[in-house]
Order: sequence, then C-alpha cells, then structure tokens
Amino acid sequence: MSELSTELRAAIRTIPDYPKPGILFRDITTLLGQPRAFRRAVDGLVHPYAGLQVSKVAGIEARGFILGGAMAHQLSAGFVPIRKKGKLPHETVRVAYSLEYGLDEMEMHKDAVAEGESVILVDDLIATGGTAEGAVKLLRQMGANIVAACFVIDLPDLGGRKKLENLGVQVRTLISYE
Ligand code: PRP
Ligand code: ADE
Repeated sequence: MSELSTELRAAIRTIPDYPKPGILFRDITTLLGQPRAFRRAVDGLVHPYAGLQVSKVAGIEARGFILGGAMAHQLSAGFVPIRKKGKLPHETVRVAYSLEYGLDEMEMHKDAVAEGESVILVDDLIATGGTAEGAVKLLRQMGANIVAACFVIDLPDLGGRKKLENLGVQVRTLISYE
C-alpha cells in the first residue's frame, strides 16, 4: 500500500449499517476535516491531469462537489454540478440510476458542457458504479469527451470500476476497500 493510501485510509471513518443494515459506509467527512489529508487527496486526484487541457471538472452531488470544486480550481478548469433531480433551475438532461443502496434520478444543465469539451468526472467513492454510469450518460449525451473518472475510494467487489471501463472510461482511484 502506498504512503498516500495509508494516510487517506487513516483519515476515513467507517460507519456500520448506514444508511441501511449491512452497508459499511465509508465516511470522508473526517478526511475533509483534516487539512493535510484533504489537500493530499485533492492533489492525488489532480496529479495525473496537471498540464493537460481539461476544460471542466464534473462533480456528482454531494461529496463530488467538494472534491471537484477544489480540483477545478487547481486545474484552472470550470466546474459542472451533476445533481439529484429537481435541484437545477435551467433546462436539464435527466437519467435514472441505481446505487449500492437505492434508486434515484440525476440531472445536469443542458448547456453545462459543449460538444467536444474535455471533462474529468469526480466523486468520493465508486461502489456498483450506477451513479457514475448515470453521470457518464449525461455528459456523453451533451457531447463531452470524458478524459477520466476519478474517486478517492474504490469498492472493487461491487464492480463499479469494471462497469465504467467497459464504457470506455479511464478510472483512477486513490484507495480501495476489498
Ligand atoms: C454515494 C457516493 C456515490 C455513490 C456511489 O452517494 O458519494 O455518489 O453513493 O455508489 P454506486 O457506485 O453504487 O452508484 P449517495 O448516493 O449516498 O449520495 P450523497 O452523496 O448525496 O449522500
Ligand atoms: N455509496 C455507495 N456505497 C457506499 C459506501 N459503502 N460508503 C459510502 N458511500 C457509498
């Protein structure tokens, strides 16, 4: 295990049976609250793309907003919020998706990305990949070129990384919980 992943793991808290019995919830709020761990997580996510022409970072509500805003700042890129349904005020595209513990719908503004724009997708965690797959569909519907999808945490047993790779999306993660 790398020194970075050891440090990030130590900063993440695990809550059993949240939000449903049987789920081990990986809570990054403890990481976000530690200045060094937060900085190192954002630096680790941004590092592969420094110096590349990335037009926008798309963050998935809610924790993808926190990481994605910081990444966009470091990359001098714009930020695109991908939100749960009913939250965005202008014209949207919408998709239904499933995740480890439920079903929902998410939206993105139609004018948030232009055809051919280079976008990095970010969220705190990938589990089944249902959420990220929904975000990929929205971005591609509007013609985005998805450079990569990145996450602090991978839960590889739930297959999300493979699901995205099968869609032709490059996936990067900083730590994994087997
Ligand atoms: C969590 C996490 C991802 C998603 C991953 O969000 O932040 O967005 O689940 O699960 P999946 O890979 O199985 O789709 P959650 O739906 O709990 O929403 P929140 O960020 O609004 O709390
Ligand atoms: N989203 C889906 N599964 C999760 C988990 N185990 N912990 C935190 N967020 C999640």
